[in-house]
Amino acid sequence: MADNRWRPALPTDLARIAEWIGTARALERWAGPGLSWPTDGAKLWREIDGGSLLSFCLVTGSEPLAFGQLVVKGERHYHLARIIVSPSRRRQGLGEALCRQLLDEARQRRAERVTLNVFADNRAAIDLYRRLGFTDCGSADSRGIRPMQLRQFAANVDNDVP
Ligand SMILES: CC(C)(COP(=O)(O)OP(=O)(O)OC[C@H]1O[C@@H](n2cnc3c(N)ncnc32)[C@H](O)[C@@H]1OP(=O)(O)O)[C@@H](O)C(=O)NCCC(=O)NCCS
Repeated sequence: MADNRWRPALPTDLARIAEWIGTARALERWAGPGLSWPTDGAKLWREIDGGSLLSFCLVTGSEPLAFGQLVVKGERHYHLARIIVSPSRRRQGLGEALCRQLLDEARQRRAERVTLNVFADNRAAIDLYRRLGFTDCGSADSRGIRPMQLRQFAANVDNDVP
């Protein structure tokens, strides 16, 4: 862990990340509906707006270990998206480290509300998000996607929550 670095993601990182995704279903669970399958690095970079969204990697040397994005949803409202860890490195704390780095990025940008969406049957991701303090903030939609938010950010804007 000590050798891992945090940096903005590069288009070339997505070639490796595309290799982590084995099926159309896995792609949808990671990145949401609407992406093309089969995929590759260049396609992924384009379709997840890698160039315009805030996109980050945890890396060892030049090798990506984990990837995630921050989406600006409104004034001081940030959304965690496309969280993924290399399949060979899961259950080693990297998902948690990745999310904590993304939350730091949001905090540096003075976020007051942090949200995310997750498929309601994605046990690994939901357990990780709960461990970080995220709670449900609505029921799953017709595709099974559930919204969550982080309390300590949301607490600052109680009167802003619909
Ligand atoms: C979800 C994901 C990012 C977790 O990454 P990770 O590096 O394995 O997570 P961590 O090692 O930091 O785990 C932290 C905690 O999350 C929970 N967790 C992680 N994987 C889990 C699993 N397979 N089953 C149950 N709980 C799990 C546990 O509480 C874990 O703590 P523990 O290992 O002490 O029990 C990873 O499984 C992944 O990339 N999944 C595919 C992409 C995806 O579904 N992304 C989420 C989109 S919303």
